[in-house]
Amino acid sequence: MDGTGGLRHHGDVDAEPGLLDFAVNVRGSGPPGWLRARLVGALDRIGTYPSAADDRAARRAVADRHGRAADEVVVLNGSAEGFALLPNLRPRLAALVHPSFTEPEVALRDAGVPVHHVLLDPADGYALHPERVPEEADLVVVGNPTNPTSTLHPARTLASLARPGRVLLVDEAFMDAVPGEPETLTGEPGVLVFRSLTKTWALPGLRAGYALGPPGLLARLTHGRPQWPVGTLVLEAVAACSEPHAVAEAQRDAAVVATHRRQLERALGEIPGITVHGPAAGPFLLLTVPVGLRAALRAAGIAVRRGDTFPGLGPDHVRVAVRAPAECSPLLAAVRAHQEVLL
Ligand SMILES: Cc1ncc(COP(=O)(O)O)c(C=O)c1O
Repeated sequence: MDGTGGLRHHGDVDAEPGLLDFAVNVRGSGPPGWLRARLVGALDRIGTYPSAADDRAARRAVADRHGRAADEVVVLNGSAEGFALLPNLRPRLAALVHPSFTEPEVALRDAGVPVHHVLLDPADGYALHPERVPEEADLVVVGNPTNPTSTLHPARTLASLARPGRVLLVDEAFMDAVPGEPETLTGEPGVLVFRSLTKTWALPGLRAGYALGPPGLLARLTHGRPQWPVGTLVLEAVAACSEPHAVAEAQRDAAVVATHRRQLERALGEIPGITVHGPAAGPFLLLTVPVGLRAALRAAGIAVRRGDTFPGLGPDHVRVAVRAPAECSPLLAAVRAHQEVLL
């Protein structure tokens, strides 16, 4: 699959009903009890329009979490909304670091913005090479850690891409799954950062995320949004997940995920014919596998995310979500079984 149609492909399509899901990176099947209770409590307020007070409280909580000012925060209808708003910045040339999440490219191409692919290489762990970014690019988009490579780029390498007259957008949708968030750019006042609550808090159906950036840039980005762009429940979730207890919980979970990732990496790496790309820092792994493995896994009742719709990857790539060892056993057994037939 290629072209813009392929770019619109996401793991939720691979995760067909009835399959064991390693395709979608959402952790667990729903939000924790305390967050559910906060959302249920907020239902009492949906009889009125989303209030300015709720919006302020959500932005204040995000600002406090990241050491920023409330006017440097915009709550988004999922970080995907932020990508859809990028054409508002009227870029003349967008440099997109790939392989990476494709929604920014879809939005920019649909708006007729010229797009340049900055392709990274597996040989050095998909490390970022700033010199590959064209000087004339006035928008640069990079994920950190990157989906699907799981590469964590150093904050200082990313920051070196900033220029007067250029917007540097760092998609940190998975940063809260990295213990200590050491490479986050949320503290850099000039950089545009998108964050998502979707994966860590198992809220994909709610659509909750936010942008951090200079107030003037956020105003340009959000120009023309509808009145009441996000609902009361989204504002409640953003406020709740930014409170210190929630951040601490996410960080404890991130440490567990890192342990599970190392276990899955080791187990997959021991299977002949499977290459695990690394160093990996996110809650998923990119694998090079024999073409046909994905279909074989599907026949065995297991969904993994196809890799060939990411620019720079092919039909011999798949992405798997990191899960607890007991949940990974069927995946590992099915991969081993398929490989044994081949060898
Ligand atoms: C790297 C990356 N960024 C952003 C998003 C969008 O997240 P949200 O649910 O906040 O719109 C996704 C969703 O898959 C993603 O993988």
